[in-house]
Amino acid sequence: MPDTESIVGTLAERGWCVAAGFLPEAGVAALRGECLHAHSAGDFHAAGVGRGRSRVRTEVRGDQVLWLEETEAGPALRGVLQELETLRQAVNRSLFLGLLDLETHFAVYPPGAGYQRHLDRFRDDDRRSLTVILYLNPPDWVPEEGGLLRFWPDPENAPLEILPAGGTLVTFLSERFWHEVLPAKRQRLSLTGWFRRR
Ligand code: OGA
Ligand code: MN
Repeated sequence: MPDTESIVGTLAERGWCVAAGFLPEAGVAALRGECLHAHSAGDFHAAGVGRGRSRVRTEVRGDQVLWLEETEAGPALRGVLQELETLRQAVNRSLFLGLLDLETHFAVYPPGAGYQRHLDRFRDDDRRSLTVILYLNPPDWVPEEGGLLRFWPDPENAPLEILPAGGTLVTFLSERFWHEVLPAKRQRLSLTGWFRRR
């Protein structure tokens, strides 16, 4: 399991990091269960674009989300939030980003849904500083099933394509990196959040 210090070191060096196995498979399965339980209870809603959480444009993004403040966190979620809190403190010590809190949601992409190329920082709210995406998919995901995260380390060059394998944590400076979610042939799950500064 990649430790917090190596993630922080990679972030300091280039502003983004992909950490496979950030969460071990048992933790992923437990968190996936909590996510799917809330999803089947009908607690999710169509994701919005921009601030206000209500501007739904499914041609831009087709996922359904559940914000954490809208749900009661189960034990698996509480454990992961603790890991992310450790990451927040380590990032603040090394990168001086002044991260204050984490705004986060579960995201479920139904088959065929994607999210067009975008940056995570809103024009009218520049508090989102560091994006974290933790995939909750089963371990047997293969590239042919789609759902890859296209990520541009540098906008002039070809993007990377990151497999949304369960347990992988992708983190990057929110204002700097363009990215896109390709449609998948199967349901695609994640916990996605933004560490915000003041
Ligand atoms: C987002 C996003 C990427 C992913 O929610 O803003 O870009 O791989 N998600 O789920
Ligand atoms: Mn994004």
